[in-house]
Amino acid sequence: MTSKPSASAEEVEAAWSDNKLAQVLYHDWEASTYDEKWSISYDERCVAYARERFTDVAGSDGWPYGKSLEIGAGTGFFTLNLKLAGVMAEAHVTDLSPGMVEAAKRNAETLGFAIEGRVADAEKLPYDDNEFDLVVGHAVIHHIPDVELAFREMLRVLKPGGRFVICGEPTKYGDFVARRLSRLTWWAATNVTKLPALADWRRPQSELDESSRAAALEAVVDLHTFDPDELKRTALRAGAIDVRTVTEELLAAWVGWPIRTFEAAVPDQKLGFGWRMFAYRSWQQLSKVDRVLAKVVPDELYYNVSISGTKP
Ligand SMILES: C[S@@+](CC[C@H](N)C(=O)[O-])C[C@H]1O[C@@H](n2cnc3c(N)ncnc32)[C@H](O)[C@@H]1O
Repeated sequence: MTSKPSASAEEVEAAWSDNKLAQVLYHDWEASTYDEKWSISYDERCVAYARERFTDVAGSDGWPYGKSLEIGAGTGFFTLNLKLAGVMAEAHVTDLSPGMVEAAKRNAETLGFAIEGRVADAEKLPYDDNEFDLVVGHAVIHHIPDVELAFREMLRVLKPGGRFVICGEPTKYGDFVARRLSRLTWWAATNVTKLPALADWRRPQSELDESSRAAALEAVVDLHTFDPDELKRTALRAGAIDVRTVTEELLAAWVGWPIRTFEAAVPDQKLGFGWRMFAYRSWQQLSKVDRVLAKVVPDELYYNVSISGTKP
């Protein structure tokens, strides 16, 4: 897959003072390589992941939901895998980035699904009141400047009794640890591979430089980390009821983030299917341990927070 041409120097300059522009530039740029970067697939591995994130916070009553909307859908990871899991009948996806909406529609077409896709800001959804039975999101609200406004919009477009399910958002502590582990892994991998004996494990300098520039923009687009209780209060203030949060991934995140960073730091062809299965199985086993540890470890120390609630 080829990357979209990078943004012009003027656009990048403007993005520092216009966060929505930064989101569009960064995510448009990521769209063509996003599934590869995050090892996203549309098969049992990711269906199981999406189903588990959803049921952990919202259960499985009422499946299939009639009409669902995703905010910040990216390439369609959450909606398409939830659809494969039988969570909803009719799927609509939105994203601020036109490149992401195109990618999601392409992925849906490959899977043989008819989905509706629109470019839309989650703070101002282009839909009527009371249209949807379900609104979902994954790894998105930490990019949205006014999170309470986004919850208000989700509730506005939901039918009374409809549910929102937002998963995979970074907690304050989890993000703090993950970023440090990732930086350390990047530094170690890019320096060790300077040794002549490991030269074929080193990505070309131009690619490493591009990744470093992307990491700098990441700091602009990642706006929030969440305290689970404060997030719950935000959804309640927006008018939701029956609000619930769950947190996941402690050891799984401490190992998962260095693994993902290592994958990004070395040439793709060095890590085959065996490595990816090893990474996935490690994550699975550690997630099981994390569930046991959850009995004694405070929930705010975990990496991911999910939240669900309903419209009165
Ligand atoms: C980290 S990606 C997650 C994509 C996808 N949900 C997933 O889990 O793979 C965040 C997405 O949110 C989108 N986004 C950022 N700000 C947004 C906003 N205000 N409204 C809608 N989408 C937004 C980005 O364009 C990007 O596609």
